Formats: sequence, structure tokens, C-alpha cells
Amino acid sequence: MNNFKYVMDIKIIEDALRSVIHPAKEKSVIELGMVEDIKTEDGKIRFKLVFPSPDALSAQLKKSCEQAVRAVYPDPSIKINIMELVRERKIEKRVNLQLGQEQIENVAHIIAVASGKGGVGKSTVAVNLAVALAKAGYRVGLADADVYGPSVPIMTSTEDAHPEVADIDDKELIIPIVKYGVKWMSIGYFSPPGQPLIWRGPMASNALKQMVLQVRWGELDFLLIDLPPGTGDIHISTVQDLPLSGAVVVSTPQDVALADVEKGINMFRSKNVEKPVLGLIENMAWFTPEELPENRYYIFGKEGCKRMAEKFGVPLLGQIPIVQSIREGGDNGEPVALSNRPDGQAFRDLAGKIVEILNY
Ligand SMILES: Nc1ncnc2c1ncn2[C@@H]1O[C@H](COP(=O)(O)OP(=O)(O)OP(=O)(O)O)[C@@H](O)[C@H]1O
Ligand SMILES: [Mg+2]
Repeated sequence: MNNFKYVMDIKIIEDALRSVIHPAKEKSVIELGMVEDIKTEDGKIRFKLVFPSPDALSAQLKKSCEQAVRAVYPDPSIKINIMELVRERKIEKRVNLQLGQEQIENVAHIIAVASGKGGVGKSTVAVNLAVALAKAGYRVGLADADVYGPSVPIMTSTEDAHPEVADIDDKELIIPIVKYGVKWMSIGYFSPPGQPLIWRGPMASNALKQMVLQVRWGELDFLLIDLPPGTGDIHISTVQDLPLSGAVVVSTPQDVALADVEKGINMFRSKNVEKPVLGLIENMAWFTPEELPENRYYIFGKEGCKRMAEKFGVPLLGQIPIVQSIREGGDNGEPVALSNRPDGQAFRDLAGKIVEILNY
């Protein structure tokens, strides 16, 4: 006879687990479908916690699950056994791929990070977003397609890397550099440091496409593309040919930058491009000095991107303040999103927002 004094109810356990939120995905482990096979027998509660890919937060989440269940069944004689496992999501094969695109057929989402104006922090956002997504457990690659000023090698401290070229099925493919859990590819790895790249027209757009299409990415959840600033012919011919899930447009809130955002959005929406704009990202939204954390100084104007987002009917995906450590992280090759410090929070929030918008 089972002399166990509690009736343990799967529904109660499930409800308790609804309070456990995945910090990066901002949804509960139940909503994310991560809890499977809840069983209650012989004074034990057992279930599986399934991760779609290796997740840096798995230990923390397992502990939170245990605490949530313990809160509804506090009797210490009840054993709670959670089995953690990784079951990689199969990526749906893309159809109608053009020549060369088979390299990206195992990529679930390709996102272009664009800006109309230069120097607004596009590469900073792209690099930190890649790191934040990887920290949340996604498989991520970043193609630095900025043929005029590649900055990924410096921002990730991989300037000395020399990617190998492998002959695979009679095709030459470049092997990306792996660091901080992200696969990086940059045109900067192929040019002598300090030397400007003077590529024009078709050559530039070919080089740019090569950084995306001639790379052995493997299976990825997200491939980010750091585009060169601007909205010229090179951009159009590149984004036209890539199966993008969409573009995110980075800007600072001041008028000169916003005028170029308009051009950027119009380019993506133009008849011969027609790619969705997933939203705007306002960088350098305000400055907060360390000694006066409550104060916000709107150096480049207040909420310019919010107004622009409303005007074009696209979401404002995030606002990133000016923080000295963000600049330092870029210069010394250690993106702030690597740490769990508050200065990386804006990028973690942004990663969560993008996952949500793509419903991934
Ligand atoms: N939120 C921020 N806080 C502090 N510094 C920042 C921030 N965003 C970007 N920066 C700094 O501003 C400079 C320009 O940023 P970044 O290189 O990312 O811009 P970009 O738009 O990619 O430029 P380009 O058009 O040349 O490609 C860098 O030194 C970077 O570290
Ligand atoms: Mg850049």
C-alpha cells in the first residue's frame, strides 16, 4: 500500500513551474514547452527539463524549477528529481535556394543589422546581440559584411585569426572563427590591418555575399549580418539575394541619423528588395554617469527612434544608453554582453525581444 501522505498533483506542479521564467526568453519554462513527463510516484516528483540547445542558464533554471516545486511541496521527504537534457531543434530546410545558398540552408533566421548613417553603433549592437543570444543558448553566427570598415576582429579580439579554407564537395568554404560561443566571419580577417579596403560596385557586393554564403556555418538559430552603413546599390543587391527573416535598423536619436533611418526603412520596403523591417534599435539613447545613476542626459535628443518607429509602424526593439564600458568592451574585444553586469542588460533585453518577434 502506498502510505504516502500527500496526493501530489501534476497540475499543481505545472502551475508552480509557470513561475519559472527563462531570463533571456522572458517566458516560463512551461510556455516554452521545456517541461516534459511530469511523474509523481513513491514520494518522488520527476520531470525532464528539455533545452533546445546547450544553455548557459540551464543550472540556474533547474535550481529555480526545484525551488518552485519545493514551495508547493515543502516536505523534505519528497524527492525532486529533474533530468536536464538538450534536444536540438531541427531546423526546417529552406526551399528555393539559389546557387551558393546551400551553406545557409541550415540557418533558421538571417537578420541584417543595418543603419542609414555610419558610426551609430551598428557593429557594437551586432556583436553584443550575437553574444547575448549565444549566452541565452542559441547557436549564433555573425558575418561582418562591412567591406569598408570591418570592426568585428577588434571588437572580439580576434585580429590575429586566420580562417582556414576547406575544400568541401569541390567547393572552397571558409571556416568561421569561434569565440565567446559565436561563429564569427569578417572580411577583416583577409586584409592586412590598417589598410583600407577599396572595393567598389560589384566587387564589394560580391565580397559581402561571400562573407555570408561561402562560409561553413553549420546549423545556426541566428545568423546576424553587420551591413556597411548606407543604403546604396551594394546594399540593395546584397539584401535582395539573401533569404533574410528581416532587418533591424540601428540609429541614434538625433535628426541627422533619423533622416537616414527613413532611407533605410524605405530601402528594405522598396519593390525590388521587399524584406521585413523587424524594428528599430535606439543606440546612445541617453547618458547616465556612474556617480549619478538616477540621472539621464539625452545628449542626442529624446526618443527620436520611438517617434520614427511609430511613424513607420515598426516596433522599437530596444534603447541602449551610452555607457563607457560599452565603448571599452568594443575597443578591448570583450563585449559587455559577456558579463552579467547591468551594463549588458540592454543587449540581453534586445536578444529576448528579437526571439519574441520572430516567435522562435
Ligand atoms: N551605447 C554605446 N555606449 C558607448 N559607446 C558606444 C555605444 N555604442 C557604440 N559606441 C562606440 O561608438 C563607436 C562607434 O560604434 P560602432 O563601430 O559600433 O558603429 P558603427 O555604426 O558600426 O560604425 P560604422 O558605420 O563605422 O560601421 C565605437 O567606438 C563604439 O565603441
Ligand atoms: Mg560598423
